[in-house]
Amino acid sequence: MTTTPPTRTTSPTRTTPPTRTTPADITAAAAASFDDCADPRLRELMQTLVRHLHGFATEVSLTEDEWRTMIGVLTDTGRITDARRQEFILWSDALGLSMLVDALAHELPSGATESTVIGPFYVPGSPAREYGESMVQEDGAGVPAWVYGRVLDTSGAPIAGAELDVWQNGADMLYAVQRPEAEEDHLRGRYLTREDGTYAFVAVRPVPYPIPHDGPVGRMLDAVGRHPWRPAHIHIIVRAPGHKTVTTHVFDATSDYLDSDTVFAVKPSLLRTFVERSADDPERPPAIAGEWVSLENDIVLAPGGDGGAVVDPGRTG
Ligand code: BEZ
Ligand code: FE
Repeated sequence: MTTTPPTRTTSPTRTTPPTRTTPADITAAAAASFDDCADPRLRELMQTLVRHLHGFATEVSLTEDEWRTMIGVLTDTGRITDARRQEFILWSDALGLSMLVDALAHELPSGATESTVIGPFYVPGSPAREYGESMVQEDGAGVPAWVYGRVLDTSGAPIAGAELDVWQNGADMLYAVQRPEAEEDHLRGRYLTREDGTYAFVAVRPVPYPIPHDGPVGRMLDAVGRHPWRPAHIHIIVRAPGHKTVTTHVFDATSDYLDSDTVFAVKPSLLRTFVERSADDPERPPAIAGEWVSLENDIVLAPGGDGGAVVDPGRTG
């Protein structure tokens, strides 16, 4: 359906003859075109966007060839994006914008577990699992990991009934959602804390992996000499009534790429040690066979409810 665009009812009157139009005149005119926007926030967003975009082009003296290349990159990004792949979010991740927006949105009291990027492989609706249950549903997924800890408030009191929504990759470096043939609920699950705030589950030791790099973002990384790797981590979203939901990771403190995560998502407070255990370790949980690792990870939630809503950002890969 087409709609009739608004028309001007008055034309500007000139009192002096037109002079040469400068780049600054163009920027001013584009910004001023939003002056009458009735929504003040939308006006601010559009005018600031125009000023920064024009500022960028002016600062680097953007050439017509470079501008055409940028348009081509945006076009390719749109073409490769579908229900399973979200290349625009990947751009946001690879340019550090996702982490910046996250940091601006989540100013937390000291001691609260820090948030980090959700990434594109979160799939809502993971199965509810029991305390200590394994979320490993395929053989050969990796070294078994007993992950345990408490969910606490900022005063150190345990939070009962907090939900941990967990997902991770396996030894093949892939998330189940990236493999059409995978068991749908492999390496993901939702766990509740007990009365004393404790939780536990069986996972596998995560491994470093490259973000999807067969599209425009990968071509940019190649062109500038950046690698596509992320350090080993497990994703956790923690929700509890009366507390702020936190979307976070636990990183393997010995992983490669901690100092060069391609999406800038490492925060020192999120590094933890995976303790290597032998098959005959007396603490080996019944759900684990052979050599294993353990990982202790307490999570502290800030007060204040936000409804626990998490928006699926779309999938990549
Ligand atoms: C992830 O951790 O799953 C992820 C985050 C950003 C981009 C790609 C993957
Ligand atoms: Fe990840």
